[in-house]
Amino acid sequence: MKKCIIFAAICCAMLASCTGSSNKNAAGDGDFLPPLMGWSSWNTYFVDINEELIKKQADAMVSTGLKDAGYQYINIDDGFFGFRDAEGKMTCNTERFPNGMRVVSDYIHSLGLKAGIYSEGGDNTCGSMYNAEKTGIGAGFYGHDQQDADVYFKEWNFDFIKIDYCGGKELGLNEQERYESIVRAIRNTGRTDASINICRWAYPGKWASKIARSWRISPDIQPRWKTIKYIIGKNLYLSAYAGNGGYNDMDMLEIGRGLPANEEEVHFGIWCIMSSPLLVGCDMTSIPEYSLELLKNKELIALNQDKLGLQAYVAQRDGERYVLVKDIEQKRGNMRAVALYNSTDSLYTFTVPFKSLELGGKVKVRDLVKHEDMGVFENEITYTVQPRSVLVCRMEAEQRLEPEVYEAEWAFLPLYNDLGHNRYIIRYSQAPDCSGGVKVAYVGGKKENRVVWREVYSAEGGEYEMTISYCTAKDKKLQVAVNGVEQVLTGLNSGDYNKPATATISVTLKPGYNEVSMGCDYAWGPDIDKFELKKK
Ligand code: GLA
Repeated sequence: MKKCIIFAAICCAMLASCTGSSNKNAAGDGDFLPPLMGWSSWNTYFVDINEELIKKQADAMVSTGLKDAGYQYINIDDGFFGFRDAEGKMTCNTERFPNGMRVVSDYIHSLGLKAGIYSEGGDNTCGSMYNAEKTGIGAGFYGHDQQDADVYFKEWNFDFIKIDYCGGKELGLNEQERYESIVRAIRNTGRTDASINICRWAYPGKWASKIARSWRISPDIQPRWKTIKYIIGKNLYLSAYAGNGGYNDMDMLEIGRGLPANEEEVHFGIWCIMSSPLLVGCDMTSIPEYSLELLKNKELIALNQDKLGLQAYVAQRDGERYVLVKDIEQKRGNMRAVALYNSTDSLYTFTVPFKSLELGGKVKVRDLVKHEDMGVFENEITYTVQPRSVLVCRMEAEQRLEPEVYEAEWAFLPLYNDLGHNRYIIRYSQAPDCSGGVKVAYVGGKKENRVVWREVYSAEGGEYEMTISYCTAKDKKLQVAVNGVEQVLTGLNSGDYNKPATATISVTLKPGYNEVSMGCDYAWGPDIDKFELKKK
């Protein structure tokens, strides 16, 4: 352990606002909306859509039982745009939608479903760039925020909108300003209930959760294993940004579009445990039986629509095999959802100590894909998972243990985004010698640029030994705050940016949830691997 000097505690009353924690605490026993469930036209039809087709899909959502399983939205993606008229008002493509769009949303509503539409934050649509849709030129919101919001939500009466960003990117516009302005215009229509999806193909930053119900985190999905695995990989360390009715959107589903059963199970199971929106992307009039059953799997859907609204995080990792876990039904209760995900091309046997899932005593395990109780286990579970496969289960334990480890990759980073505009931005970074194989890099440099754990739990409160694991090859300073009470560690140096060392301090926790944050106000701090707590 590297010796370091610890200065006296400094009280930082402003800390909650510095860290952004006032913006969004991890979900309570929430009364917020769950991830959106429905269907979207893009994956199967691209821009080739029309009134008849959309109505048939809406009918099929009812006749297949998908509506009864919870799917609700029929979303029209790119392909409906006509040109703007002389006043700049948006019209629809009259060859594809000869009776206008209101007829379509009325039809969808008449089936007890909700209707979604699509647009663009910039000027030109994605379809105009990649699908030769001439009508998409100048069809985006830019310069028409209120005019378009009025058409989509008042005149055409849609309930949801996905707002893409090909045109915004082409013009180099500021994402946050564009999306905030569009959402203001939508709220101005009086439709405060309208559901918003930001489609910027990268985690956009914490502002997204203030204006949208979901935000895309990755480029477009395809019915191929490579893209499923890639998108899951993108979402592994974004659990801190989901909650309170806002969700990381892993893109529309490719179930029923030719993937083998094991890959479909990974796709649906992980979308469910990660609380992604569930938008069916196949032709609902001809879904293979197996895929339809999977899409209607009540036990998996329950994980996705769970009232806590949480996204599972990585509790254990061996290369590209991951154990994901989240609370369901009750926070810090005895019931947790767990996935053993083997993304590799070979068999793998997981051994998962229940302690790493904070579960104690006897643990009942139920396989949610097979709808089978697997038995009662103690201490650990050992289970072999086929290549490109997953076991998604519910675990019910006799006891819930107090956590001892807090990984940096579970933390909320108030200034993090994945937009790629700034190479010095704070980020989750692969580091094989760090625990979980991941650390947080680019900590500090300014006050708000911190690593924040918003729910550090202590049943009774009291004095703890906190051991911080960090990496840096230069002497660095770290400010550690517990509920706003700060300690400063100096002279931290592990000798290598990828090899961690530890420093131990004493902290006082109150009973229940505590906020711990780490940063360095005016210089780069060390990279952070994790911290551990031991009651004194
Ligand atoms: C982008 C989006 C897709 C789809 C198309 C439509 O590529 O990411 O989901 O909406 O545009 O052109």
